[in-house]
Amino acid sequence: MNFKEHIIDKLTELTGLEHDAVEKAVETPPDEKMGDLAFPCFPLAKVLRKAPPLIAQDLASQLSSDELIEKVDAVGGYLNFFFNRAAFIENTVSAVEKAGDDFGKLTVGDNKTVLVEYSSPNIAKPFHIGHLFSTAIGNSLARIYKFLGYDVQSLNHLGDWGTQFGKLISAYKRWGDPAVIENDPIKELLKIYVKFHEEAEKDPSLDDEAREYFKKLEEGDEETTKLWQHFRDLSLAEFKRVYDMLGVSFDSYNGEAFYSDKMDEVVKLLDEAGILVDSEGAKVVDLSDMNIPPCIILKSDGATIYATRDIAAALYRHRTYDFYKNIYVVGTPQALHFKQIFETMKRAGWEWSKDCVHVGFGLVKLPGKSMSTRHGDVVFLEDVLNESIEKTRNIIINNNSSVDDIDDVSKKIGIGAILYTFLKNSREKDIVFSWDTMLDFDGESAPYCMYGYARGKSILRRANGIDHKNADMSKAVSDDAYTLVKLINGYSDAVLDAASKNEPFYVNRYVTNLVKAFNKFYNTNPIMRDDVDEETKKARLAVVDATCTVIKSALKLLGIDVVESM
Ligand code: ARG
Repeated sequence: MNFKEHIIDKLTELTGLEHDAVEKAVETPPDEKMGDLAFPCFPLAKVLRKAPPLIAQDLASQLSSDELIEKVDAVGGYLNFFFNRAAFIENTVSAVEKAGDDFGKLTVGDNKTVLVEYSSPNIAKPFHIGHLFSTAIGNSLARIYKFLGYDVQSLNHLGDWGTQFGKLISAYKRWGDPAVIENDPIKELLKIYVKFHEEAEKDPSLDDEAREYFKKLEEGDEETTKLWQHFRDLSLAEFKRVYDMLGVSFDSYNGEAFYSDKMDEVVKLLDEAGILVDSEGAKVVDLSDMNIPPCIILKSDGATIYATRDIAAALYRHRTYDFYKNIYVVGTPQALHFKQIFETMKRAGWEWSKDCVHVGFGLVKLPGKSMSTRHGDVVFLEDVLNESIEKTRNIIINNNSSVDDIDDVSKKIGIGAILYTFLKNSREKDIVFSWDTMLDFDGESAPYCMYGYARGKSILRRANGIDHKNADMSKAVSDDAYTLVKLINGYSDAVLDAASKNEPFYVNRYVTNLVKAFNKFYNTNPIMRDDVDEETKKARLAVVDATCTVIKSALKLLGIDVVESM
């Protein structure tokens, strides 16, 4: 039973307006005291040649309360509808009971494939905090789209190709120690890579050597390819450790190298479309009419480039997946790059290029720490994750909380705290990392939300033996219960909003508000107290149970796993 639909139907019948027009017009009043839904009568004034307040009064007198509507008030030019609280709460709570973890799931995405490309770190370089930002957003978007019924493919476009691999191979040949590298691959590979840059400054012939190696690699030379593969395997194993900690997985790790043999076709197709022009020996697509620099397709030395590989990747994805949306979760500094390649594909006549979306995000500042690869003094992500877990463990110990498995709990909270931080604000905003905010159990944080869930579960455990199924929900119609259940009812809408703007923070804000409302409910609606009668207990327990289900589900969409007690 849908309360809104019911009211729209009634209004449609009464006013003679189109169903869609009524649906568009109804709104949620700014203040709960003004009812659950409002219908502004102003648009009817012209047709009926009557003042809106009179129309509102007239309509109100013709509308009677029923099993779903408690009352209808005419206020000014508005009709304010008040739902029957008990019916609404009963309706929502039993829907959650019935659907369980599936509550809120939709089928809008049936038979449509959404590609979410995210993380995409570079081989032999540290997985930096920007890649973590991408991973948090992409992982959440993948879950959000799945929740809405889309077939989702998570793609990791590894940076595993380019002239820097010539440098790395040259450095390895000169200073690489296999045993040391095996032991701590990324740190070591980074070290010799940095050394290469230092030495090449003194002796430029090193750069020629590196170019030679990359050429060999491009030609498929066996020894060079083997080394490249080895670096790739070592790096990927490191990255996967981080992904495992985060609970993230990918359907494809096809990186830039995968597309290196698919570039000729791109050049040919762009040429045939008549959009390639010569520019100082290079082949480019001129975009000056858009006031942006040209998209370089082939450099003057014939070398392949990032943009061309991306165009080859998009074409491959179109052919392989026939996607509904092809989403790139990549930092905002690359916005121009995506503008250039999307525009190039459009000019090539690839109609599907309109379904490619760049989902950008801001910068992450770790106070006091540099993040440049050049100097080698980078922050390693695993260290950041482990630090968060350690800090959480200390807080739990200081709080004297009784948790069964402190390792598991600290890990889930510590990781959750970081993911939450990335998904807290609109993604284009810069983030400053602060442990205090991130691990503030009372503030807007993952621990706060997770604690709300754990508290709910602890109440349910204490009520063990009280069956709250089929409770009489007219016993739980307080303002705070009602506000909470209305939020529960709006879960799908929050997820839809998040998907439509590719902004997981809508789900983050949703779950945070849900927990706030739950805490308020819990404070004003005692449950397991002796002076609470059995029927009221049952009804309130049913609300707690439904709330826990939705908190868990919404946190999951952010990539955060709940803990049962903390
Ligand atoms: N590897 C790149 C980097 O670390 C990100 C790749 C983004 N994805 C893409 N399709 N270009 O900056």
